[in-house]
Amino acid sequence: MAIQRTFSIIKPDATERNLTGAINAVIEESGLRIVAQKRIIMARREAEAFYAVHKERPFFGELVDFMVSGPVVVQVLEGENAVLRYRDVMGATNPANAAEGTIRKRFARSIGENSVHGSDSPENAAIEIAQFFSGNEIVG
Ligand code: CMP
Repeated sequence: MAIQRTFSIIKPDATERNLTGAINAVIEESGLRIVAQKRIIMARREAEAFYAVHKERPFFGELVDFMVSGPVVVQVLEGENAVLRYRDVMGATNPANAAEGTIRKRFARSIGENSVHGSDSPENAAIEIAQFFSGNEIVG
């Protein structure tokens, strides 16, 4: 399996509780490398564009409000099979269904305030990475 990249967001519920380092430790212990990272406040139009695929869902407004409510840490993670590996490390979207030891089981508050986002496919990873990083900000 070739080296792959995925896009990650440490969400406002986690930055508020000062969990960036704890989450990064779980990521690094899994073997993934953090090859780009920055802490930002997402603009509302950026959050709306990022989650456009969910815009007809009943939770869309709540999701966008939450994502702009405080700092987030956007990241590029690199490693073998990075997209699927990070989804395993994150755990299920709803922390009630997440496996022991996963980021969401350990840290998430709810399905909405679920501490992290990770891309769901290599194609979406490339799109999401390009939304927040230019090539020279990613150092593998
Ligand atoms: P994420 O992986 O960032 O992708 C879409 C997000 O929508 C998801 O994580 C959840 O945080 C959020 N989400 C999904 N379902 C619900 C829901 N029923 N209520 C609120 N937020 C949700």
